Amino acid sequence: MKYIVTGALPYANGKLHIGHVAGAYLPADIFVRFLRLNHEDVIFICGTDEHGTPISIQADAEGVSPQVIVDRYHKLIEDAFSGINIDFDNFSGTARPPHYRLSQEFFLNLYNKGHISSKETLQFYCEHDGRFLADRYVEGVCPNCGASGARGDQCDACGQIYDTITLKEPKCKLCGNRPVIKNTRHWFLNLEGFTNQMKEWLGHKDYWKENVRNFMLNLLQLGLVERSITRDIKWGIPVPLEEAKDKVLYVWFEAPIGYISSTIEWAEKIGQPERWKDYWFDPDTRLIHFIGKDNIIFHALTWPAVLM
Ligand code: 2FM
Ligand code: ZN
Repeated sequence: MKYIVTGALPYANGKLHIGHVAGAYLPADIFVRFLRLNHEDVIFICGTDEHGTPISIQADAEGVSPQVIVDRYHKLIEDAFSGINIDFDNFSGTARPPHYRLSQEFFLNLYNKGHISSKETLQFYCEHDGRFLADRYVEGVCPNCGASGARGDQCDACGQIYDTITLKEPKCKLCGNRPVIKNTRHWFLNLEGFTNQMKEWLGHKDYWKENVRNFMLNLLQLGLVERSITRDIKWGIPVPLEEAKDKVLYVWFEAPIGYISSTIEWAEKIGQPERWKDYWFDPDTRLIHFIGKDNIIFHALTWPAVLM
């Protein structure tokens, strides 16, 4: 049996801390060591998550470019992992050109198969800063559980994702002003079409943690809806369509693809460039993701749908 074990790609916007280690990486490391003691064929994959508003907000705060932030924290995080003897087979980063190409290929593939469509949407826009407020650029009260500090794309208190303009009492993270609502076109992944496949797939996940499985079963019951996978920010992977020139891919669309691009990088480093396919294309490979609880929806719904 082959195993791909991944550790959630930490954002390259800060140092690794004990919460990261205890939550995702130490359990993953123990699991990998256990598999290896049992002579299983396993690759252990990670890297830094280098796009999205977590990075650009840190860059804005320090008055430097996002690439400066990425380079600094990629190195600090990589050194911290080796300092505690967590040895990934490969530790990549999502701002590397091969990852750009692969993510754009995924997008076009889904687009050409009719799983992605675009439409005009309403988004928060800060008139003071003259910009759309994607994801972490806006904060407010969660429309699902009422927690404060909920962001434009997700509430960490309840893990829910929602339509950004349903956020209550929104405030611009940059200036604190209340944003207005403006029109902008975005591209959506149509998840409804995966409902039956997801049901069938989740049906076999009786070994998942109960909270994860219940969270997912609840989402299925509510009905899968389309999710936007593009953003109006500058730092990110350009959407590979002429009519979407100023947009980038949503970080949660492309970051999981980093598990594959990191494996490809590993295969190249060991001088067997096709070797990654032995893992990713073998239907018997067990793909095990170690993640944080706010990562559930992206690893148990959108990413599996993309792979399907
Ligand atoms: O929550 C986080 O820190 C994310 N950067 C995890 C990404 S995991 C994967 F999808 F890349
Ligand atoms: Zn909430």
